[in-house]
Amino acid sequence: MKARGDRLSAAGMLTELAAIGEDPQGGITRFLYDPAWRQAQQAVARMMREAGLAVSIDAVGNVYGKLEGTDREAPSIVTGSHIDTVKCGGRYDGALGIAAGIAALAKLKRSSGQPRRTLEVVSFCEEEGSRFPLAYWGSGNVTGCKLFDGSLDAVDAQGISLREAMAGAGYKPAAHRASRRTNIAAFVELHIEQGEVLEREQRQIGIVDAIYGQRRYFVDIAGRSGHAGTTPMPLRADALAAAANMIVWLRKAALEAGDGLVATVGKLEVSPGIPNVIPGNVRYSLDIRHRDEAVIEAFCAEAFQTFAAMAEKHRVTVQQTCWLSEPPSPPMDAGLKERLARICEASGYSHMPIGSGAGHDAGLFARTCRTAMIFVPSRDGISHSPLEYTAPEDIERGADVLTKLLYQLAYELAERV
Ligand code: GLV
Ligand code: MN
Ligand code: MN
Repeated sequence: MKARGDRLSAAGMLTELAAIGEDPQGGITRFLYDPAWRQAQQAVARMMREAGLAVSIDAVGNVYGKLEGTDREAPSIVTGSHIDTVKCGGRYDGALGIAAGIAALAKLKRSSGQPRRTLEVVSFCEEEGSRFPLAYWGSGNVTGCKLFDGSLDAVDAQGISLREAMAGAGYKPAAHRASRRTNIAAFVELHIEQGEVLEREQRQIGIVDAIYGQRRYFVDIAGRSGHAGTTPMPLRADALAAAANMIVWLRKAALEAGDGLVATVGKLEVSPGIPNVIPGNVRYSLDIRHRDEAVIEAFCAEAFQTFAAMAEKHRVTVQQTCWLSEPPSPPMDAGLKERLARICEASGYSHMPIGSGAGHDAGLFARTCRTAMIFVPSRDGISHSPLEYTAPEDIERGADVLTKLLYQLAYELAERV
């Protein structure tokens, strides 16, 4: 009996999920619709069933566990996060919110019986944008915040389209809009902070204010490949030399901009990629974030003007393609933040308001219903890395705050939130 209880604790479920998708290069890789992803969603469904929840899977592969309320007409109170990871990611990003959500509903069912309002926990199929050039395939479809026009033809690094990947995992590609929900009253997500603010400030719980906006681009540079020994330096059209200048400029400009603006080049593809051939083509990724959309806009405009001038000097061409433009989220719900602060105080947990530079499913829900987000500390602020770590006591505290808020919303509140 004890073993079963441990397995259904948030920490127990996290340990089980961490074993699915172990990457030979370290950490965890679970990409949308790949075998590890399928295995993880099946494990989540089983955990939900063991927790006594009614399981359903929607048109894109989001897995729901439901604890039906006595007021069947009232829209649901939903918690959860995403099951996918970045390449060689950590064991907490996304998985924590799912495991803690299942543990919370199991505990509430055990201790308090049937809620007044229906409670649901969801394991979203995709949030990271790691496999295809799109992100929020789970919550974007559920909230209807993203239309994903043309997205089914997007291809991954192997040239497999989203349409093919969906069909391969047993889903009907054209049916993705069927996952839309209009009966959600509130969404609450527990997540690791992924930064070092809580640790530095020595606070146990972060109550999220808002989520920063972000843009992601491909930058394509076309030059001319040629012989590394015979082509004089002034006559070269070296795409990689141009890219290197742009990347150095980006770092300097972002540092000068300050005020929380971040710019990242995380992926670089060099073609033909041969030591004795001048690089003719380069594609690199660009990720820009800030809390204010206008600042992102101005930074991108200046960057692309600078790139055009640099390209001319290097006798190459440059083109930017934006594949993700996510505005900053609306502020999280003031009433829910107030409740979270009171729960922390009553529980003796130190807390603080905090912004999020990382994108989250909660950011999309904040546009459609009352939404709150709870952060717990990440050791050394490290995330999107095999080194990601959150202490068991922090997991427990976060799960406790989540459970208490869900209790208030689903069992106590007379009015419909
Ligand atoms: C998601 O983790 C992101 O990159 O914001
Ligand atoms: Mn996440
Ligand atoms: Mn992430």
